[in-house]
Amino acid sequence: MEVVRVEDLGKTYPGGTKALEGVSFSIQKGEIFCLLGRNGAGKTTLLRILATQLKPTVGRAFVLGHDVLQDPKAIRPHIAVVPQEARPQMLLSPYDHILYFCLIRGRSRAEARERTRKVMDDLGLWEHRDKLASDLSGGLRQRLIIAMALVADPEVLFLDEPTIGLDPLGRRSVWHMLRELTRKGATILLTTHYLDEAEMLADDLLIVDKGRTAFLGTVEAAKGDTGVGMRVIVEPPAGNGTAPPEVLEPRSAEEVLAIVERGLREKRKVTFKPASLEEAFIKIVGGSIEVEAT
Ligand SMILES: Nc1ncnc2c1ncn2[C@@H]1O[C@H](COP(=O)(O)OP(=O)(O)OP(=O)(O)O)[C@@H](O)[C@H]1O
Ligand SMILES: [Mg+2]
Repeated sequence: MEVVRVEDLGKTYPGGTKALEGVSFSIQKGEIFCLLGRNGAGKTTLLRILATQLKPTVGRAFVLGHDVLQDPKAIRPHIAVVPQEARPQMLLSPYDHILYFCLIRGRSRAEARERTRKVMDDLGLWEHRDKLASDLSGGLRQRLIIAMALVADPEVLFLDEPTIGLDPLGRRSVWHMLRELTRKGATILLTTHYLDEAEMLADDLLIVDKGRTAFLGTVEAAKGDTGVGMRVIVEPPAGNGTAPPEVLEPRSAEEVLAIVERGLREKRKVTFKPASLEEAFIKIVGGSIEVEAT
C-alpha cells in the first residue's frame, strides 16, 4: 500500500529561492525512507510539505491518500513530526511532556501513563523523568523530542535529523525503536547527515541536490550505480614495509579470485573493505562539492 505519493513537487520561497523542483517518489507502508542531501538541498522543505506545515508551489503530494493542500486536516491526526532543531518546553519535566502529549492525542489517563513509562524506559529517559527540561543535556532533550513523536504511535512519522547530538547508544535505541514501529505497520520518512544511519535503516533513499532528485532507489543501487564496489587492499610484500598498499576495485568474482591468488603467490596480506554509502553519496553529489571548492 502506498502511504506517501509525491508528484513533480516544487517549492519556491517568497524571496525567490527555488528549494525544490520536479521531485517525484512514493513510499510504501512499513518502509523507512531516508532523505539525504547537502545543507540547503531542500530536505526540510520537502519534509515540512508532507507534514502539512508548508505549502508546495507546484506539483502534488498525498499522505495516506489525502492531498496535503486540499485536505491537511485529514492527515494530521495520523502523523507525528520531529522537527529539525526542536526544543522542549524548558519548564516542564520530561514525564509531563510525554504524558500531556498522550492525553492531547486522546488517550485515557491510565493508557497515557503506561505508554509514557514504556517510551521513557526505551529511550533511557525514565531516570530523568522529574527534572526540568532546561536541566537536561542536549542529547537527552533530543531524546525527549523523539519520545513525544513515538508515544503518539503514528501511522506516518516524519523525522528531521532525529539523532543529531545523540551518543552511539542513544542512536541505536532510536534505530531499534524505528524498526519496531515499521514492523507494526508504521511508515517513516527521515532525513539524516549520518550515512551509516541511512545505510542501517533505509529501505529506499532519495538524494536531493539543489532541490532536484540526484538519486532514488535502494542503498545497494546507490552503490551499484556509482560503481562504488568492494575495495580490496593488497599489502606490500614482507620486507618492503615502505611501499604503499595497492587498493583495487574488482568488478567480478574472477577478478577477486585473481587478486587473492596473486596475494597468496606473492605472500602479501589481502583484506576486503565493503564500499560505504558515504562513498556513493560523494560520487552522486560530488560535482557540486567541487564547484564550491573552486
Ligand atoms: N523560510 C524560508 N524562506 C526562504 N528560503 C528558505 C526558507 N527555508 C529554507 N529556505 C531555503 O531553501 C533551501 C532549502 O532549505 P532546506 O532547509 O529545505 O534545506 P535542508 O536540505 O533541510 O538543509 P540542512 O541539511 O542544512 O538542514 C535553502 O536554500 C534555504 O536557504
Ligand atoms: Mg534541514
